[in-house]
Amino acid sequence: MAPLDPHSYTDGAHPVVSHAALSFYLDFATSTIHASALLTLSAPHSGDLLLDTRALAVHSASTDADPPEPIPFSLAAVPDPILGSALTLTLPPDTTSFRLTFSTSPAASALQWLAPPQTASAQPFVFSQCQSIHARSIFPCHDTPAARITFSLLLNVPAQLSAVAAARHVARRDPLPSDHRGACEDELWCATGRIVEEFQMEQSVPPYLFAFAAGGIGFRDLGPRTRVYAEGGDKVLDEAAREFAGVEEMVKVGELLFGPYEWERFDLLVLPPSFPYGGMENPRMVFLTPTVIKGDAAGAQVVAHELAHSWTGNLITNKTNEDFWLNEGFTTYAERRIVEVVQGEERAALNMGIGWRGLNRMMERFKDNMEFTKLKPKMAGIDPDDVYSEVPYEKGFQFLWRIERQIGRPAFDEFLKKYIATFKFKSIDTETFLEFLKTNVPGIENQIDLHLWVAGTGIPPDAMEPDSATYKKICALAAEFKSGKLPSEDEVADWSGQEWELYLENLPTDVEASQVTALDERYKLSESRDYEVKVAFLQLAIPTGCKCYFNEVEKCLKQVGRMKYLRPLYSSLAKCSSEEKMLAQRIFSEAQEFYHPIARSVAESILSKHS
Ligand code: BES
Ligand code: ZN
Repeated sequence: MAPLDPHSYTDGAHPVVSHAALSFYLDFATSTIHASALLTLSAPHSGDLLLDTRALAVHSASTDADPPEPIPFSLAAVPDPILGSALTLTLPPDTTSFRLTFSTSPAASALQWLAPPQTASAQPFVFSQCQSIHARSIFPCHDTPAARITFSLLLNVPAQLSAVAAARHVARRDPLPSDHRGACEDELWCATGRIVEEFQMEQSVPPYLFAFAAGGIGFRDLGPRTRVYAEGGDKVLDEAAREFAGVEEMVKVGELLFGPYEWERFDLLVLPPSFPYGGMENPRMVFLTPTVIKGDAAGAQVVAHELAHSWTGNLITNKTNEDFWLNEGFTTYAERRIVEVVQGEERAALNMGIGWRGLNRMMERFKDNMEFTKLKPKMAGIDPDDVYSEVPYEKGFQFLWRIERQIGRPAFDEFLKKYIATFKFKSIDTETFLEFLKTNVPGIENQIDLHLWVAGTGIPPDAMEPDSATYKKICALAAEFKSGKLPSEDEVADWSGQEWELYLENLPTDVEASQVTALDERYKLSESRDYEVKVAFLQLAIPTGCKCYFNEVEKCLKQVGRMKYLRPLYSSLAKCSSEEKMLAQRIFSEAQEFYHPIARSVAESILSKHS
């Protein structure tokens, strides 16, 4: 066995699945998918083949011949808590494709099923989130970004719903008996009141970019290749259309900076508030939290980030999660270049400043586990969801910015374009990037300590705090807080959420309850509609022991399932006295039904660590 990726059972010595033809019957009543997959290998293979699964019930495996021959298979009885269960097939000689039928579990880690009372449209809703290693809970696959696939997807859903996917939409049509390939009985597949939404993904993608959603979803066109989808009716769609009106312009900026946009369409899906991330770069169909719609610059920043992944992450993909910074560090750099063009240098510098604070905070979080302050950490035995942090984003950004400063922007821009053109549709590791860098920027290793940046812990001495007037002004105001000075109405007059976020994140952490309440009385931050601001404030207030914000904390934890907010709030509560701990436990027990399984398990692990 030649392991390819610490997070997958894929055997590097064997061919990998290169195409999947998937038929899914979505059963909302039981929160399960009854499915079939016709999997094609990159080369003929005989004997054992290992696939990743998690909580799947595998019903059958057979050859693609007519008539099909059964293929012996076994599913590991005891799942590994991180990897799930290996599915071992014993393939007949020279097999190139084979069929599986299986069902997902209602607890599938990638899927959240919402009942009508939990949605804005009063229709059922389901959506997936596969990054980093959750695709295996939807279908058996080589769930490593090293193994790219193309796929076709048939989603059989109730006719009053519509479906979207990170793929080209081919048709919405009546189900045919020949569609399901054993996913379920003909009668079920073709029952009246069911419809099939058909998709094709012809560009090869890592399995973590597999994505779909189904529900009472409507849409508004934004431009020739951009559209926003959301559930919740006209009001939500109008707001979303307003928020994202500038998206086509952003795509054009991205093309100027990084080369052609290769994915044809750039559509957005606004999810219910339990979506566990700010955004997810599913190709052709970015998934977004509804909390980004608030009518200021922040929504555009998240879109710029997910758009940037179209080049860095989706075209060039990290080979394993140990190289995750190749996705997120490059994308954070690319995001700020887009923001700089569409919103100006000061806004980009502010984002860098927020990032710089975040990076420094992570040094504190990982002070007893410095491995995760490395750009390329060792990940064997580690659940990527447990160690998700700003390090790959912001240290990665800093590394690229450092190279830019060394060689100058024009040379760096040329380098970036060449890097993307060279490795597009490939999954690469950090070493490949370093080789490419050294070849294309001769002598760079004598000017920058590349090894320290990639393999060292902490923040290298040649990292840099952004230098901008707004950023410095806000940091200076935050420094004055300790001596009791609050910012004046004049000073904050033109602040949006991001300025407040930066201010709050720069405040000393050992402040008095009275100071915190004074700030809140003046600026009502605990009631802010901007969750970035609200959470940054509550995170400051909780450790002061001030109980007056319990109510806002509870509301927040019950309204939004974005992990960026759940993590700090649950962690702050869990680190306090028994009263706060009990509050955290009670809120979690009442809110967990509302969370996506990934968020639920992250919150659970925070609470159990401090119990
Ligand atoms: N790809 C990430 C989200 C992700 C990372 C999901 C790891 C699962 C595992 C996405 O591009 C992202 O970084 N989202 C950020 C947006 C922000 C940096 C603008 C988020 O969700 O906060
Ligand atoms: Zn990202």
